[in-house]
Amino acid sequence: MVKIAPSILSADFSKLGDEIREVEKAGADYIHIDVMDGMFVPNITMGPLVVEAIRPVTSLTLDVHLMIEQPERYVEAFAKAGADIISVHVESTKHLHRTIQLIKSAGVKAGIVLNPHTPVEAIRHCLGDADLVLVMTVNPGFGGQSFIKETVIKIQELNEIRNTERYNYEIEVDGGVTDETIALCTNAGADVAVAGSYVFGKSDREGAIQALKQAVK
Ligand code: DX5
Ligand code: ZN
Repeated sequence: MVKIAPSILSADFSKLGDEIREVEKAGADYIHIDVMDGMFVPNITMGPLVVEAIRPVTSLTLDVHLMIEQPERYVEAFAKAGADIISVHVESTKHLHRTIQLIKSAGVKAGIVLNPHTPVEAIRHCLGDADLVLVMTVNPGFGGQSFIKETVIKIQELNEIRNTERYNYEIEVDGGVTDETIALCTNAGADVAVAGSYVFGKSDREGAIQALKQAVK
């Protein structure tokens, strides 16, 4: 069964607590939190304060996706705020292996993110340490973009490496996930699908989450 991680980037920020309670009730598995700094990506969103505010609202896994330069500077703050998973882009940190160890030593699961153009090979030697690999299926920065099909091959590659090496990471996809694209990802081996506009853009959140789960059956 695929896990669904609604991205609060597309939620109504004026009532964020209610939005999160609603998707939890509707069957969400993780809450995906997109952190952007206006440097690594053009957009600016939220920081540890927002994670801290959300933490008491839900018992779901808080899946924090850092799209910021030198994310190692903020690992401790996000861990203290209540993140369960912290994921960093390979391009954003000079010493990826060290950053992964830092995340784990803070008691949080460590994820590595691949941009659409980044090959799996770029993180090959860190895969044994990863708890999650996030394959971007759009260019990071904004919700509501179209799915880039060329990224699916990397899901397959990651799945094969996981089987061969007996690694334990989850494979997550992020961007342009709809009832039409989700099966491409799960058939290739994805376990978790982030969905922003598809879930929060609809008034019937339960219907949206169920439609995604049904589409992979
Ligand atoms: C993009 C973010 C995504 C975004 C997905 O940079 O990482 O998590 O919210 O939005 P949708 O599902 O609308 O493509
Ligand atoms: Zn994201």
